[in-house]
This record gives sequence, C-alpha cells and structure tokens, in this order.
Amino acid sequence: MGRRVSGRTILAVETSCDDTSAAILRGERELLGHVIATQDMHAGFGGVVPELASRAQLRVIDRVVGRAMEQSGVGLADVDAMAVTAGPGLIGSLLVGLNWVKSAAFALGKPFIGVHHMEAHLFASALEDERARPPFVALLVSGGHTLLLHAERWGRYRLLGQTRDDAAGEAFDKVARLLGLGYPGGPAIEQQAREGDAARHPLPVPMVRSAQRQDSEDYFDMSFSGLKTAVLMRVRELEGAGRLEGEVPHLAAAFQNAAVEQLTEKTLRAVQATDCRRVILGGGVARNKALADRIRSRMAPDALVFVPSPRLATDNAAMVARAAQFRLERGEQAGYDLNAQANLSMPGIVEAPSATHGRMEADW
Ligand code: KG4
Ligand code: ZN
Repeated sequence: MGRRVSGRTILAVETSCDDTSAAILRGERELLGHVIATQDMHAGFGGVVPELASRAQLRVIDRVVGRAMEQSGVGLADVDAMAVTAGPGLIGSLLVGLNWVKSAAFALGKPFIGVHHMEAHLFASALEDERARPPFVALLVSGGHTLLLHAERWGRYRLLGQTRDDAAGEAFDKVARLLGLGYPGGPAIEQQAREGDAARHPLPVPMVRSAQRQDSEDYFDMSFSGLKTAVLMRVRELEGAGRLEGEVPHLAAAFQNAAVEQLTEKTLRAVQATDCRRVILGGGVARNKALADRIRSRMAPDALVFVPSPRLATDNAAMVARAAQFRLERGEQAGYDLNAQANLSMPGIVEAPSATHGRMEADW
C-alpha cells in the first residue's frame, strides 16, 4: 500500500473505563488505524455505570477493532504483537478488552502484552513529538487518577504526589453536577468558565500554604474535596437567594481557577525539585486549555510543555500501543494467565523519599 515499513506493527485495545478503542501502530509513531467509540448512555446518571459500560463494550468491540484494522490496511496476520490495558480500571470493562486480545493472540499465535493504563497516558505525547521523552515531570489528571511523577527514564517513575481524596476529573464532574451542567463535567465547566469572572467567588486554593517546604509531607500532594465543598456552600447560599442561575459561569470560573492553580503550583514545585526542562500532561483533564496555558505561562522560556491532542489525552488505544512498543522492546511478554486488575500498580514506580522519610534526598 506504499506505506513506509519500519518497526513492528502492534494492535492495541483499550477498555478500562467506558470507551472502546483499538489502534494499529507501526514503530513508535506511525498510527495506521485508530478508532475510539465513546458511550453517551451514562450522561443521565451523572457518571459511568459499570454494568452498562461493559455490556456495551462487549457489543461493539469486534466492530471497533475491525474498523481500525480496515483503516490501517494491515491484516490481522501481519500484526507482530497485540497489547491490551490490563488495569487499573473497571473490572468488567477491562475483561472485555483483555479477553478479546487474549483469544485473538491465541488463535493467531501472536505474542501479546498487558499494559498499565497510567503508563500508557505517559506515552501519549510521545506519539506526536519525539522530544516528549524522559527525563520529565508528568501530571496525569483523569477521572480516576491524579498523579505527579518524575520519569527518570521510560520504565522508572518516581511518585512525587497524588490526590488525597477526589481525582481532578472527578472534582470537575462533581462540581458540574452541583451547577446543573452535564456529564462529563470537565468540558462543560471549561465552557462556562470562559464567560465567567472567577473573582466574584474567591475560593481557597487547596494544599498550597506558604509554610509548606519540600520536606512537608504534603508538598506535592493535591486535594479537591474541600474545594468541592466550598462550591457546594456557595451554591446553597445562591440558591437560597434565588441567584444561582446567573452565577453559574462565575462559579465555574472560580472552581476552575482554584483547581488549575493547585495543579500548576504542584507541577512547578516538581519541576523545581527535579530540575526538569520538560513537562508532560496526560489524562482527560489535560484537555483543559486553562491548565495547559497556566503551566506554560509559569515555565521558563526554554522549557517544553507537552499536551497531547484532545483525542490522545483521553482514553485511547494508540497510547496503549506506544507503551507496549516500549515494553515489548525490552523483551517483556504476557502469558495466557494474564488477568485484569482493577487496582493494578504501576510498573517501575518508586516512592519519593519525601513521602516515606519526610525528607527529599539528593538523587534526583
Ligand atoms: O482520561 P479520561 O478520558 O478517563 C479516565 O481515565 O478517567 O478522563 C476523563 C475525565 C473526566 O472526569 C472529564 O470531566 C475530564 O477528564 N475532562 C476535563 C476536560 N475534558 C475532560 N476536565 C477539565 N477540562 C476539560 N476540558
Ligand atoms: Zn485514563
């Protein structure tokens, strides 16, 4: 088909939450086919209903993989290896993708590998820009996770901070519900915030006290539940006064401003502590333009901030394929006993010294 042949061709499947995605990646960046089927039946419930999600995934997975294969112009027999998200995520959903890939790999006699969902998010930017490689600081912000990492090299990640309660995306979703906006809440809040004035409802920025020093154990950690409660209190007050409707854009702007400020401050602390020149954002909340803009505006002019394009920021199989390339290259491969794990821990993760000893060591 006149395509450049370089590197091995991987078929990857991702079904960790409500989306169903398949990708065919050749080498490190040649995305030959990529399909993401989203579900909209959860909107009325204000969140993903796991049983509905996995049942729908079971119905569409054949078609999703089929369409991605068609796009790629590659046949299943020409695929060199297969990959699938093995966790963390919703167990029923994970099993749909995992069983599909395991059966196909068995039937075709292909090697296959399980990928960690958050490691895959780390690789999303690398699909679009070869400079998006370690060492870097990564802020992974999705509906289920909020992680601040220092990637010393691919496969070795120092956990600097994480949320102490809600995930960042979860907070956007919950606040959107309080404000009567739809699900998912992130895009709705961002849109409302554009018309709003954050200064009308000053909200505290959580976890950012001037007394915090690098040896404070919450120096890199984040929290969103207090902010959510602060919004709730304002909503009740305004509702009581019959003024909520007109204030929705301003409250959305105030919440987004405080959330973005916290995420930016923590990311900059990580950049300073690690002396990194590169920052990688990943996960659905990385689609938030205010977040990327604020982080960029506070970084040194020669620093690089990588934000995946919207399609690659949210859950997708292309990033799973890219992470699989790295793992397969190292000679890793799964056996037929590979299982899905809702709480799979990230491979290569090391705790930051500050989190365990209350002191930051010098081996950054
Ligand atoms: O990574 P993702 O697609 O799925 C998970 O693994 O969770 O992230 C989904 C999350 C949702 O909570 C959604 O509200 C949030 O990402 N999100 C946003 C934006 N777009 C999606 N949050 C803030 N601003 C956005 N523009
Ligand atoms: Zn995700």
